[in-house]
Amino acid sequence: MTEKKGTYYISTPIYYPSSNLHIGHTYCTVMADAMARFKRLSGYDVMFLTGTDEHGQKIQTIAEEKGVTPQAYVDGVVAGIKDLWATMEISYDDFIRTTEDRHVERVQAIFNKMYEKGDIYKGEYEGLYCTPCESFWTESQLVDGCCPDCGRPVQPAKEEAYFFKLSNYQDKLIDLLENTNFLEPESRRNEMLGFIRQGLEDLCISRSTFDWGIQVPIDEKHVIYVWLDALSNYITALGYASEDPSKFEHYWPANVHLVGKEIVRFHSIIWPAMLMSLDLPLPKQVLGHGWLLLEGGKMSKSKGNVVDPVKLIERYGIDALKYFLLREYTFGQDGIFTNEVMLKRMNYDLANDLGNLVSRTASMIEKYNGGFVPEAKTEDEIDQDLKAVATGAAAKVEAQMDKFAFNMALEEIWVLVRRANKYIDEKMPWVLAKDEAKKDELDTCMHNLAEAIRIISILIYPFMHTTSDKIRKQMGLWYADVVWEDAFTFDMMQGEQVKKGEAIFPRLDIEKELVALEEMQNAGKEPAEENIPLELKAPIEFDDFDKIDLRVGLIEKAEKHPKADKLLIFQVKMGTERRQIVSGVAEHYKPEEMVGKKVIVVANLKPRKLRGEESKGMILFADNGEKLEIVTTDAPDGESVS
Ligand code: ME8
Ligand code: MG
Repeated sequence: MTEKKGTYYISTPIYYPSSNLHIGHTYCTVMADAMARFKRLSGYDVMFLTGTDEHGQKIQTIAEEKGVTPQAYVDGVVAGIKDLWATMEISYDDFIRTTEDRHVERVQAIFNKMYEKGDIYKGEYEGLYCTPCESFWTESQLVDGCCPDCGRPVQPAKEEAYFFKLSNYQDKLIDLLENTNFLEPESRRNEMLGFIRQGLEDLCISRSTFDWGIQVPIDEKHVIYVWLDALSNYITALGYASEDPSKFEHYWPANVHLVGKEIVRFHSIIWPAMLMSLDLPLPKQVLGHGWLLLEGGKMSKSKGNVVDPVKLIERYGIDALKYFLLREYTFGQDGIFTNEVMLKRMNYDLANDLGNLVSRTASMIEKYNGGFVPEAKTEDEIDQDLKAVATGAAAKVEAQMDKFAFNMALEEIWVLVRRANKYIDEKMPWVLAKDEAKKDELDTCMHNLAEAIRIISILIYPFMHTTSDKIRKQMGLWYADVVWEDAFTFDMMQGEQVKKGEAIFPRLDIEKELVALEEMQNAGKEPAEENIPLELKAPIEFDDFDKIDLRVGLIEKAEKHPKADKLLIFQVKMGTERRQIVSGVAEHYKPEEMVGKKVIVVANLKPRKLRGEESKGMILFADNGEKLEIVTTDAPDGESVS
């Protein structure tokens, strides 16, 4: 056993059990799992937490639509989520559900502590509410009148509510983000600092318009609004504010909260402020990862375009999928998921590079040395180079893992895999085998290959433990525990009995697989139903419509808003008039894509300022809830549209 290096506490977001999870959630959990396994293997006492965020209006509404209680609804979805993680052998140490008693009681205790501290007060909330995001927004935060997170319309809402004095913590939060590496990547830090510097408003933390939530302990009319409930999971799961806080004392503060970029704001502003209010130490880091996108935009259940991890696992195995997710994408950046890129990774890196190395080596040892790993007897520069690459890889993997650069960590391992394959080509053991006088060199060659594979089997363990086990079985290493330190040492093997088994990764016929995947993914889509009325806003009179002056506008110039990442500033020509319009579409369009487009403008909308820039009118976009599509026309600019 390795000596313990201390504790390491890592968490994923607790996912909404509003529907089954897709490959995006899988991506985050696979990263956390690989890190947890890596830390365990390198000697840490690891706590890996995941779970589900089960309260809130959205879940209540879905359950009502299905005609079941919210609890029954989430129980079903959560069972499916746990099944997925079991299938994928996700090594979490605890799974927290926010509907569990242990969580509910402790969240109430947290509320009471913050209340006693004077950080919670009762007030009246007036704001604009985005139901899908369960977020209140202020007018100034809206983008084109819509939710700045999802772009959907918001509704005015007013209610008596409890507030957390977030504004009290503004300076401390600025200090935290400016002077520590609490939040990474750095680009997110600047975004958050910008947000805080605009002035933090106190946070509404209770709701009285629905009841699927944890009751406010001092007021039965209110339930705790989701984020205070959800964020607390990271400490309630450890037994904070319970009779037995020993686990909390042992593991807190967390080393890393791994979260998607869209919830960085909650984790780097609200969560540290809550902990400050509770006089608790802060987690060491919040890491925001990017999104997996499909070619047409973000995955969404409503579009029926989510990639189902279960189907991919059934077809290619857990390790192939995990390898692809960890190797392909750069932490912190968005990446596009395509079947083709996935299949190529699986074929080239796994079947060809790694699979061939193992199967060639195993068959050669069987053929040239009766299946036993020989001792090394000679050494030349090529041998030395292989040894150096093999024993140097572990430190490089560690350095990359310190940066959460899973893709680079795997790349370092594959430098060794490819070096070992090249070693075979350079040494040409089949030639050595023909010459009795070269037996010592041949033995060295077999020994060194077995050693390289042994080291590879250790290095890949955190990422693909099943494959590691398979390789170790073939190489006669079944008797030995996987010990990280052994990856730094060469010449540990002697006399192990090698037994070539089945290919660890079968070769895929990419063309055939592409067709099969396409069929499978289409089969999962709901067939379009004939004629179901849309849910529309209240009917209006023709006169109401007639008040709107729609015009064709030509976009002559487009640029990014200097002070808002989501906004683009357009100079639009409409007949004789030129004017400026600001739209919240920077996430969907690059400025240069927009120039020259003829669009439809709500031309008589009262001018307003968006983050300091005048906007005269509004450009129409079609909105499918995830992506905004520009509405264009061929008609001459200035023409009216009706
Ligand atoms: O936000 N690409 O839950 P959620 C990459 N309950 N990652 C993705 C992704 C994609 N396309 N889609 C989802 C919530 N994720 C809250 C969290 S935490 C106290 C409360 C991942 O079900 C990513 O990690 O919407 C993202 O942050 C998370 O799933 C959101 O899951
Ligand atoms: Mg979400």
